[in-house]
Amino acid sequence: MRIGLRTKLTAAAVLAMTTTLAQAEDVEVLHWWTSGGEAAALNVLKENLAAQGIGWIDMPVAGGGGEAAMTALRARVTAGDPPTAVQMLGFDIQDWAAEGALGNLDAVAEAEGWDAVVPAALQAFARYDGHWISAPVNVHSTNWVWANKGILDQLGLAQPTTWDEFVAALQAAEDAGFVGLAHDGQAWQDATIFDGVVLSTGGPEFYSQAFIDLDPAALGSETMVEAFRRMEVLRGFVDDNFSGRDWNLASAMVINGEAAFQIMGDWAKGEFLNAGQEPGTDFLCFRVPGSEGSVTFNSDQFAMFNVQSDEARAAQAAMASAIMSPEFQIAFNVVKGSVPARTDVSDEAFDACGRQGMAELAAAAEAGTLLGSMAHGHANRAAVKNAIYDVVTAHFNGEYASAEDAAAALVEAVAAAQ
Ligand code: BGC
Repeated sequence: MRIGLRTKLTAAAVLAMTTTLAQAEDVEVLHWWTSGGEAAALNVLKENLAAQGIGWIDMPVAGGGGEAAMTALRARVTAGDPPTAVQMLGFDIQDWAAEGALGNLDAVAEAEGWDAVVPAALQAFARYDGHWISAPVNVHSTNWVWANKGILDQLGLAQPTTWDEFVAALQAAEDAGFVGLAHDGQAWQDATIFDGVVLSTGGPEFYSQAFIDLDPAALGSETMVEAFRRMEVLRGFVDDNFSGRDWNLASAMVINGEAAFQIMGDWAKGEFLNAGQEPGTDFLCFRVPGSEGSVTFNSDQFAMFNVQSDEARAAQAAMASAIMSPEFQIAFNVVKGSVPARTDVSDEAFDACGRQGMAELAAAAEAGTLLGSMAHGHANRAAVKNAIYDVVTAHFNGEYASAEDAAAALVEAVAAAQ
């Protein structure tokens, strides 16, 4: 019917009509932003698009790191029906691009000068073969600790600055009847704390050798054994009911004063803010002690899939343009807990943790200590990431006789996954 109508119209009218139709096109978005803080951030995006007449079809699949979301995505693509846009991390974006499944955002990227403002570390994932394939929304980092300030004050504890001080603070909290470490038993969360623990134990060069270069000597080293020992220490401060708890419920334990600390990426800040808490007053944010000066980052990007119609492609371009606007980058990231994916955005609107995150990101990029998060798909491809998850989570659950055995298993698992 639309074609019949078009044949009667002039070229200019068709263009105008196509544009109108394009603006009205809905976007179907696959994502894993299902917690309170994440939903609040997602609303900023939905409202921005709604103001442009672009409707939102929601496809949420919970689970940090996106493992479950990626499984759901594979099923949709196999059925020949990919969503319009998909929240995606690092190497997953590159893998989908290599399969030829993604669209091309070069026109909007060029018109808006993305090359000059998106950090190189993000462009490495947002471009394939030189072409823009995704729009980066933010930069998160995983080597953070979140603390209940009231508990620390009550126990006369200062913010820990070394690993030993951190362990002593966990012990003091537990001795006073609090849960030391709020955590849960999902593999991606064990891997998330492993990011910070490995960085703190071995430093940035070691982290890079182990997780980015996959050097067997580093993976099986005494330093890695020590990292596993530190995981055992942390395991001792987790409560008995940790299995199967979602990460935001672990954040809630710190928020409501049940637990003293959580090691988690800065999406946790979104939960504290969503609960009306303020950094410095109600909670503290600091780097995993011993990892200061380095940042293990992950950037949420929206990868655009190959879609058939001009209208759908126009909607993708409009969504990408909205995401990359400096105003949106501020509005979204102050709520999400992350920092902007552009280097030219002021930190004025951000709270103390956000400002610290922005300054540390820039400093780490400069110093060569900005490292892709293993746990969140920025150090290596999914097969390797999942192999590391398996060993880390099995060890955390006591399935190896020793830290030495866990390190040996890590070497084997990584070799088998390549
Ligand atoms: C994503 C974050 C998200 C977190 C928990 C991470 O992989 O990068 O945006 O908030 O998972 O769902």
